[in-house]
Amino acid sequence: MSALTPDLLRELVAEARLAPSVHNIQPTRWRLLDDVRLALVDDTSVRAPVADPAGHDVLISHGAALEGMSLALNRRGLSICGLTTIEQPLSAQFSALCNFAVKPCATPDPLADRVAHRMSWRGKFVASPGDATALAQLAAACGDVICVSDRQAISNVAGWADQAEFSFVRGDDYRQELLGWMRLSPGHPHYLQDGLNRDALAMNALQATAARFVLGGLFKPLDRLGLAASLLADGAKTASAAAIVLFCRPVGEDPLMTGRYFYRAWLEIDRAGLAACPISALADDPDCNERLRKLGNVAADLRLVNVFRVGRPPAAQKPRHFRLSVERLVV
Ligand SMILES: Cc1cc2nc3c(=O)[nH]c(=O)nc-3n(C[C@H](O)[C@H](O)[C@H](O)COP(=O)(O)O)c2cc1C
Repeated sequence: MSALTPDLLRELVAEARLAPSVHNIQPTRWRLLDDVRLALVDDTSVRAPVADPAGHDVLISHGAALEGMSLALNRRGLSICGLTTIEQPLSAQFSALCNFAVKPCATPDPLADRVAHRMSWRGKFVASPGDATALAQLAAACGDVICVSDRQAISNVAGWADQAEFSFVRGDDYRQELLGWMRLSPGHPHYLQDGLNRDALAMNALQATAARFVLGGLFKPLDRLGLAASLLADGAKTASAAAIVLFCRPVGEDPLMTGRYFYRAWLEIDRAGLAACPISALADDPDCNERLRKLGNVAADLRLVNVFRVGRPPAAQKPRHFRLSVERLVV
């Protein structure tokens, strides 16, 4: 067993927090139990109950954070052992979801060095002659993904995604919750800390102002005029992707485990030289989920958990991460 100290924990959390989370809500906290054990703690006050009513995406986010911790440990020659997943309420706000010990480990994880580079890319993609090789590398490295690269199929999926997303956006409470997590002006007090800011959404100031109105007070009149759907459509971005990537895991798997593999799949996309943006609406909408299962020939014992559009941004992107401070994340 290896000694965990408060200083080491802060270093580890600084890297583990780079894991993706739904709407960048960052529900994961960490607690040092003793000098060899650590607990992953759920901040139950951090939720997106309309977009994620069952709390499934929160658990996927916790799983991604757990994998982030595993990768941070790996970079220091350490690994997780004796993982116990028993939910234990700690207070009204915090609940421990699992705990584990840390032991030495000799094998470097090839994904550990991708952590600082991976990020969501929400802009358009440009085609590159290397796309087919990158997708083949991804498919060979990650057994949890199915890559759909047929242009007509991608274009169809782009239309399905717009329809699915718009059906959710039509809900008043959905738009209200989404706007609550959006930081559309750099003056927002949480702009650099959490939620979805203008930079992360690849929006300029004008687009951000337009989004505020279209998702806010103007939504209903614009919808009545039949204009809201086209103003919010992301179809051109999805259609520009090199591929639609279906992320599948066994039916009935513990979502914490699914989240670990979700993060690993995204890091594999990054390692293959591609950028990605999840389109959860495609997996959450039952009709789209079924159509995509057919398109990708997904086996009956697998669940289509999420869908990415992947490709190359027009220019190399400097990695940027908007995260809560380490102090907030250690409880
Ligand atoms: C379970 C889950 C679902 C997500 N769904 C979407 C989505 O539908 N659309 C989207 O743009 N980003 C989605 N994301 C990406 C997060 O918004 C993103 O990871 C977060 O904002 C942090 O930013 P980063 O990925 O650039 O580090 C999802 C992430 C997770 C973990």
